[in-house]
Amino acid sequence: MKENIVLGIESSCDETAAAVVENGHRVLASEVASQMDIHSRYGGVVPEVASRQHLISLPLVIQEVLKQSQTSFDDLTGIAVTSSPGLIGALLVGLSTAKALAFRLHVPLATVHHIEAHLYAVQLDAQPVEFPALGLVVSGGHTELYHMTNWGEYRLLASTRDDAAGEAFDKVAKLMGLGYPGGPIIEKLAKSHAEAPGHFSYSRMKDKSQDFSFSGLKTAVMLELKKGPLSSDKERERLAAKFQNTVVEEVGSRVRTALEELKPKSLVMGGGVACNQALRDSLRKEAENFGVTLRVPPIKYCSDNAAMIAGLGAYQISKGKIASLSATAVPYATLY
Ligand code: KG4
Ligand code: ZN
Repeated sequence: MKENIVLGIESSCDETAAAVVENGHRVLASEVASQMDIHSRYGGVVPEVASRQHLISLPLVIQEVLKQSQTSFDDLTGIAVTSSPGLIGALLVGLSTAKALAFRLHVPLATVHHIEAHLYAVQLDAQPVEFPALGLVVSGGHTELYHMTNWGEYRLLASTRDDAAGEAFDKVAKLMGLGYPGGPIIEKLAKSHAEAPGHFSYSRMKDKSQDFSFSGLKTAVMLELKKGPLSSDKERERLAAKFQNTVVEEVGSRVRTALEELKPKSLVMGGGVACNQALRDSLRKEAENFGVTLRVPPIKYCSDNAAMIAGLGAYQISKGKIASLSATAVPYATLY
């Protein structure tokens, strides 16, 4: 007999996702319908196209996860959905669907913050996080470091002053003529570069703030490209490795300072850039140096998915945080 079964829905950007999660952590089924091929021809996500595609894909992915998990609508004990941040039209497709289901099935609705869910992903099919924790979100739209005392209790330590880490990967890939999304392409090129990559100088704030900044790094890559076109695979690999290494060093330096100051029990990392193996390896070492465990989701739960939404939604419902059926989608919303 399955218990506490929550259907999660994610449609904040260009992935249409649904998942069925038991007891807030056991993933029974999780599916993502990617719109990447549709948007890649434009070099980035086109919001109106994303909304229309969510309308087509969402009923299909919901049916699919119910089938895979052998769950009927009547087995569901809650519905969880991303309500912020994201593209307004895209969010509304998921939110309207979730409200209709919660209303029809007479089950509670949880509205979830996408960034918080990226952190919660470390608990999927895994042990609970030990708090206090340091939470690092590195995605296409966000680069933020939090001090976490529990789920729902965050203090922002640092955020990016310009581009997010994933955005920097995407923009640099575009500058190098490599395609979208840039992260996986740059990582693959960087891996082929056998020698020590070297690095550009990474940003340090004058006011001792630990905020991130990646726009200077993007300019450094641009200036390097202006010296002359990259004429060989070897040169492309070297530049990709040098750029990636600089991002890893900047993120590592901020995390090290926070580990030193706050002495948390865990370091939690989530978001699409957390797929990056060089970043995972480097932060694991940083954490080990402080006797702290690095908690990072498996690759399939780093990038956008609905299992993280269902998991966090189930947690919220268990704490009595039930959303109203008149809840609204909010394109920009901070987590703290
Ligand atoms: O979390 P996510 O799937 O969507 C957002 O909420 O933004 O993150 C997408 C971002 C993209 O910028 C993509 O280039 C980056 O994550 N990304 C990576 C890797 N895989 C995805 N960045 C670096 N290395 C990777 N392997
Ligand atoms: Zn995301």
